[in-house]
Amino acid sequence: MDALQLDTVKLSEDRSYLEILDQTLLPGTIRVLKIGELKDVWEAINVLRVRGAPAIGVTAAYAAAMCAGRIETDDPEAFYREFLREKEYLATARPTAVNLFWALDRMDRTAKAHLCETVPEIKEALFTEAQKIRDEDVAISRGIGEIGFSMLHKGMGILTHCNAGTLATAKYGTATAPMYMALEHGWAGRDLHVYCDETRPLLQGARLTAFEMHNAGIATTLICDNMASIVMKQGKIDIVFVGCDRVARNGDFANKIGTSGVAILAKHYGIPFYVCAPSSTIDMQTPTGEQIPIEQRKPEEVTEMWYRERMAPEGVDVYNPAFDVTDHSLVTGIITEKGLCRAPFGQAFEAIGL
Ligand code: MRU
Repeated sequence: MDALQLDTVKLSEDRSYLEILDQTLLPGTIRVLKIGELKDVWEAINVLRVRGAPAIGVTAAYAAAMCAGRIETDDPEAFYREFLREKEYLATARPTAVNLFWALDRMDRTAKAHLCETVPEIKEALFTEAQKIRDEDVAISRGIGEIGFSMLHKGMGILTHCNAGTLATAKYGTATAPMYMALEHGWAGRDLHVYCDETRPLLQGARLTAFEMHNAGIATTLICDNMASIVMKQGKIDIVFVGCDRVARNGDFANKIGTSGVAILAKHYGIPFYVCAPSSTIDMQTPTGEQIPIEQRKPEEVTEMWYRERMAPEGVDVYNPAFDVTDHSLVTGIITEKGLCRAPFGQAFEAIGL
C-alpha cells in the first residue's frame, strides 16, 4: 500500500464526523475510524491515532468546524461562547506541537471575523477555513520537498528520525517530502537510500516511516536509535532531514525524543542536518527552546508496550519525555515552504515574513 494513497484525516461529506486513519495500528492494519464526538477527537490526538504536528493542526481545524456545525443557536455571541469552550478543550490534547494552537487560533480568528453574520454563515466560514488549512498543508509540504530535493544527489544516504512523513501531514510529509519529490522528478527508488531510526518508545520510525519509504519503493534500512552513530561513522549518511513540533525564534526546535542526539552525532561526523518546518511550526512568540513545553507520557510506553511481557522491574522509576529540544547551533538549515533559513535564524525568519 502506497502511503500517499492514505488520507491521514478527512471530514465526512455531511461534515458530521472525521475519518481518521488509526496510526496506532500501522503498519499491520489499515483502519479508518469515524469520529463524531469532540472527546473522541481529543483521545485520538492524545493517544497518537493521528499525530505529527501538521496533521494534528488539520485535525483540530476539522474538529472545530465539525463541532461548530452542530451548535444549536441563532445568536452569534452564544455560538461563539460555545465554540471557544470546545476550542479550549481541544487545545489540551497535546502540549508541544504548536500547530494545534496555531490551527485553533486560525479557526478562532475566522469565527471572530464573521461574528456580524448569521450563525449558518459563520459555520460555513469555519468549514471553508478548515479546508483551506488542509489544502495549504499539501502545498507547504511540496514547497519544503522541492527545496530539500534540490540538496539531493543520486546515491545519497539520508537519515531521518520519527515520522515526519505523509502520515504526519495532509500529504507528502516534511522530512520525507524531498524523497517523494525525487520520485516525482523521475528518480528511481534505488537512487536514494533512507535510514529510518526506529524511534523508541512509540516506534514511529519503524512502524510509519519505514512503511512509507519501503512501500514507495525507496531503498530503506531500518536501524535502532542507538545505531545512528555507526552508520554515520561508516559514511552511509550524507544528509539528515528531520521534522519538528515547534521551532523557537532563535532556531532551537522541539522534535521527537532522540532528535537532539542525532543532531549532536551529525555535527560530530560533519553531516549536514536540516529541519523541515512548515512556517506554521515556527513560533515567534517562543524566544528559545527553554520555553517549549515538553510532553511527558506514561511509563508503560517504555516498560511494556510492544513487548509480549513487561521488560522492566515493577515499580522502577521511568522518565518518558516525548520530545527533546535541539540547540540551534547544531542546525545547518531550516527548510520552510517560503525558503531555506540559515543562522541567525531570528533574522532569517523575519526575512521570510514571520
Ligand atoms: O509524537 P508524534 O508522533 O506526534 O511526534 C511527531 C514528530 O516528532 C514529528 O517529527 C513532527 O511532528 C513533525 S511531523 C511533519
